Amino acid sequence: MSKSPDRLVILTGAGISAESGLPTFRGADGLWEGHRVEDVASPVAFARDPELVHRFYNLRRAALRTVEPNAAHLALARLEAAWRGSFLLVTQNVDDLHDRAGSRRLLHMHGELIRARCKACRHGWEWRDDLSPDSICPSCGKSGRVRPDIVWFGEEPLHLGEIFDALSRASLFIAIGTSGHVYPAAGFVDVARGAGARAIEINLADTAASAAFDERRTGPATDLVPALVEELLAAQSVG
Ligand code: APR
Repeated sequence: MSKSPDRLVILTGAGISAESGLPTFRGADGLWEGHRVEDVASPVAFARDPELVHRFYNLRRAALRTVEPNAAHLALARLEAAWRGSFLLVTQNVDDLHDRAGSRRLLHMHGELIRARCKACRHGWEWRDDLSPDSICPSCGKSGRVRPDIVWFGEEPLHLGEIFDALSRASLFIAIGTSGHVYPAAGFVDVARGAGARAIEINLADTAASAAFDERRTGPATDLVPALVEELLAAQSVG
């Protein structure tokens, strides 16, 4: 690493949680009960069959109780705590592994499995148990209007203003465990590089976005992320 960058923006995808035991979307384990995720994670699917969609998320929410943050999540929390410049971690993941690892400068752009939201009054709250069409909103008291607080296909991702603002000022952009298929996240590298940032991709394999990166590190996140974090902190200490 040459001159230490000071404005970090990091993007993670399902690949950073794979070694904790959570399935990715487009790997061999990408289907759920024969359904493509895109066919379940959508407002149309929820309107058509709320029971099916609630079951899909209830199972994923329950799975969170059986997995732990891995060395890659923990390394990013360590980096954030020791980083003297600006730091932003943007995740496409709806699991809570970054949160449990200790990350705080963290934006969940696709929402969170451990939150529910009321379609009637828009109230949102932390919720770690099952949801169903009979779930009642603790704010407005209505039932049949509660949904997982997840951004579905066709819906606007969260925090885009803050994310694009950070990307436009980044000096280093790192993408970890994301296939580069889903926009707007897949285009973040172009925004960062357009602002003069260096871009590093960590993945098991080439991705749809690989050509846009200055550097690609191929291998498992639990090996490569701690190594990169140590490198960044060492470069920072020499100023
Ligand atoms: N270490 C590093 N990378 C890994 C690992 C690992 N151990 N395991 C898998 N990967 C990589 C895969 O090679 C792949 O490029 O992680 C990526 C996972 O890609 P996807 O399954 O497409 O997940 P993601 O990129 O996060 O999907 C983006 O699509 O379905 C929507 O909203 C959903 O947030 C999701 C978005």
